[in-house]
Amino acid sequence: MKLAIIGTGYVGLTTGTCFAEVGHTVVCVDNDVRKVDALTGGRVPIYEPELEALVASNVSAGRLSFSTDLPRAVADSDIIFIAVPTPPQEDGSVDLSYIEAVSQEIAVSLRPEYGYRIVVDKSTVPVSTGSKVAQVIRRYAPGDVDVDVVSNPEFLREGSAVNDLLHPDRIVIGADSQRAMDMMKRVYQPFNAPIVEVDVPSAELIKHAANSFLALKISYINAVAAVCEKAGADVTQVARGIGMDKRISPHFLNAGLGYGGSCFPKDVKGFINVSEQLGEPMNILREVEAINEQQVPRLLARIREKLWVLRNKRIAVWGIAFKQNTDDVRESVSVKIIKALCDEGAHVTAYDPKARETGAAALKGYPVTICDDLYECTRGAETLIVATEWREFALANFGKVREMMRLPIIFDGRNILHAENVLHAGFEYHSIGRRSLYPKAQSPQLRDGDNTAR
Ligand code: UDX
Repeated sequence: MKLAIIGTGYVGLTTGTCFAEVGHTVVCVDNDVRKVDALTGGRVPIYEPELEALVASNVSAGRLSFSTDLPRAVADSDIIFIAVPTPPQEDGSVDLSYIEAVSQEIAVSLRPEYGYRIVVDKSTVPVSTGSKVAQVIRRYAPGDVDVDVVSNPEFLREGSAVNDLLHPDRIVIGADSQRAMDMMKRVYQPFNAPIVEVDVPSAELIKHAANSFLALKISYINAVAAVCEKAGADVTQVARGIGMDKRISPHFLNAGLGYGGSCFPKDVKGFINVSEQLGEPMNILREVEAINEQQVPRLLARIREKLWVLRNKRIAVWGIAFKQNTDDVRESVSVKIIKALCDEGAHVTAYDPKARETGAAALKGYPVTICDDLYECTRGAETLIVATEWREFALANFGKVREMMRLPIIFDGRNILHAENVLHAGFEYHSIGRRSLYPKAQSPQLRDGDNTAR
């Protein structure tokens, strides 16, 4: 089928590429000429495993192209997907101005003689946006155009977007006409995934409700972790014990420094706002946010307890991206930690396998040194914080790290290191929701001031 994707951000670019990969003819439209030129030349502006190769192979197969010409894309495509940003506003509501602008542009580009068209909302939007998009199209389209508006939320995770798109758990399609539903099912037929057929508002709500529930799971286990720390229990074991109940599942039960990224913080806020607008406030999500926001101050308090004064202390931070396998630093917990440490006058060095440039931009104006090497980052450090769950951190040579550092203290904010490796190298090991561990040789006095040791 012939598909147009408006907006070549994370969702638009990866979705468009995967549609091409399964055999559709796709044009990805963006109003950023430089971005379109770069993509046409095979340069992908984000780091996402497998994406660059997939873009290149589909461009050379003639199934994928990039353009700034929205009217042409509307004329040539059966289905037009809207995948533009829906950022949060100061008051927590969702900024729908890009959706509105693109809906208008699509409307004025439509012609009755083109025949039937579907406009699909792929961006995460508050419930009832679909009916607003339909209204804009009716208002601005020249003449009597034959259009249905569909909601088709995306559930990909950054860092595994290609795999998530090609092998989804489910596809959610919200349509108010059988014709639109049937055509959308044809688009997704090559993916071989279960399709959830619903009305438009239900599809819109599924996305907000799903992301908020996942955020709730993370905050829940982080709250349990805080109790574990006080009780001398181990949150990893607790999570394993509860996750084996199929009704709960073991996924998204990793305690840590909290969730970040471009989706969870924004979508939780957006859902709170929508529920309040509808007069049914989801207060439970306020608590989810509050727990998440406590994770960084809690870690800093524990570090202060160890190092006392942070001013002029050398602290190394591994991980700048908001999670592993991405260079995305939006709402990154690590960036928050680095900023807070700098504000307290600590000398911070940071390393990330992929987020060096994006990290430098996010930390502009902060006196942090971004290093090219995992070990170099720890030179002279008095504490190492693991802030992102990159696999290479767990595989590091901690004997070498120990030689670089001034003091043997590690705070593992993602519970990913192997305790025996770091203890064997002579480190004391602090993690989230678990007892602090000390190398056998360490004298008990050094443990004073640690409220997590029992
Ligand atoms: C999320 C949703 O998973 C995806 O379905 C939706 O389309 C977009 O939002 P993403 O933000 O890319 O995807 O990353 P995800 O893997 O969900 O992680 C989000 C954050 O939660 C990260 O900061 C991660 O470190 C944190 N997290 C995740 C935890 O702290 N614990 C966990 O158990 C899982």
